[in-house]
Amino acid sequence: MEFDDRLLSTRTIEPSDDPENLRPQRLDDYIGQVQAKENLRIFIEAAKQRGDALDHILFFGPPGLGKTTLANIVAAEMGVSIRITSGPALEKAGDIVALLTNLQEGDILFIDEIHRLSRTVEEILYPAMEDYEFDVILGKGPSARSIRFDLPKFTLIGATTRSGQLAAPFRDRFGVLLRLDLYKVEELEQIIKRSASILNIGITESGAHEIASRSRGTPRIANRLLKRVRDFAQVLGDGIISDEIADEALRRLDIDKLGLDALDRRMLTAVVQQFRGGPVGLETLAAMIGEEAVTIEDVYEPYLMQIGFLVRTQRGRCVTEAACRHLGLEFPKS
Ligand code: ADE
Repeated sequence: MEFDDRLLSTRTIEPSDDPENLRPQRLDDYIGQVQAKENLRIFIEAAKQRGDALDHILFFGPPGLGKTTLANIVAAEMGVSIRITSGPALEKAGDIVALLTNLQEGDILFIDEIHRLSRTVEEILYPAMEDYEFDVILGKGPSARSIRFDLPKFTLIGATTRSGQLAAPFRDRFGVLLRLDLYKVEELEQIIKRSASILNIGITESGAHEIASRSRGTPRIANRLLKRVRDFAQVLGDGIISDEIADEALRRLDIDKLGLDALDRRMLTAVVQQFRGGPVGLETLAAMIGEEAVTIEDVYEPYLMQIGFLVRTQRGRCVTEAACRHLGLEFPKS
């Protein structure tokens, strides 16, 4: 059996000393996702009191909301090591066996994009998660034999944008299921101000608000826009991010007042003009803008639905009157 070390990275619990690391290291520094965070705090405290490993955890929700960050925080709070990998990186049985057999008691194995695991790997994980043991069959035919591996009690943390795509028996093996939602504008403002302070960027309250309200509920986008707006503030202004410079920068980046980009607008406009506002099937939507259907579902739709611009119906997606008003289009009456 081959064990492939390229596929994994091991991180210790030392807090990152990279001053520009914007990821919070501890639960107290983590802004937003209040319900998930407070529940997690209880589970961590309870496990620590019992001297036990945490139950397996599944984080699900749109990309960029901090699933990996939370997994790292859980490791830091528990005082254990975390090994980080992803579904597509684990192809063969040997890949997951190598990871599992290197775990210590209480360690965390984090698998990002866990909905993309192969069946072979998933089937090794079932008994590993449930009974902390698994069998591997070596060889084929009459000479095949099976060896059993016993594992220390570890915690699997999975992250996925699509929990619906996990097989039910797999999902059921996670003791803790935590959904992450898009962030509120006020939460993004706090995140932007925290990041600005770490990066030594001057920013006004209204500057932070301007970026936050155009970040699609997503910290990853907020932090990216913060860095881009800083460039404009530095070259065109006095280096301080005000609402005026943020607005100027974001307009130049083609990001509108609600955070929609050219692609969002093209997609919505096409549905209104070519399909009288819908309903239109996901695949058609994808073809219209040359994106994959899963990208539309995971990346574009959650925010457009959250702001009430797109609704999902039995027969397909429909663009709303509010979206038409925002885009300056006439709402097609059917
Ligand atoms: N940076 C990115 N996401 C964050 C969060 N949820 N809290 C604090 N800082 C962050």
